[in-house]
Amino acid sequence: MKILFVCLGNICRSPTAEGVFREQLARHRLADSFQVDSAGTGAWHAGEPPDRRMRTAAKKKGYVLDGQARQVKIDDFRRFDLILAMDGSNYEDLRRLQPEDGTARLQKFRDFDPEAPGDDTPDPYYGGPAGFDEVVEICERTSLEILVRYGRGELLSEP
Ligand code: 4NP
Repeated sequence: MKILFVCLGNICRSPTAEGVFREQLARHRLADSFQVDSAGTGAWHAGEPPDRRMRTAAKKKGYVLDGQARQVKIDDFRRFDLILAMDGSNYEDLRRLQPEDGTARLQKFRDFDPEAPGDDTPDPYYGGPAGFDEVVEICERTSLEILVRYGRGELLSEP
């Protein structure tokens, strides 16, 4: 199962979804069953590491965010099984880019959020630290739900 997380800049929300999901995969011994990546609809931050404020918020909860920002490519729609947009605007942008022969299923990330299905993941970029903490919390519960859905059906009780 190949999953791509997509936000606007690929320096805040989608690297967090990717980093949290990777850590949960490791904890539940599911790393071999998934390939994950993240990208941005925009290219302004291409080549940059995740935003320092985002890395700080993630680190507090034990998640290491790394990688370099990149823009979504048309081939992503053929290479990935599932493309998850972090908010509605990312979703609409992806819909416009989606090629005729794209095989990836396109959904909003928080379609899987058990607390607020379908909501946007708020963009923390222009706000204070609480917004970054909130992104981590949203990613934790939503990614876990994705693991349950597409993993082996049951998670290890003591990862
Ligand atoms: P992200 O956050 O889409 O979660 O990576 C943003 C990063 C950069 C900008 C906006 C949102 N920006 O305007 O540069």
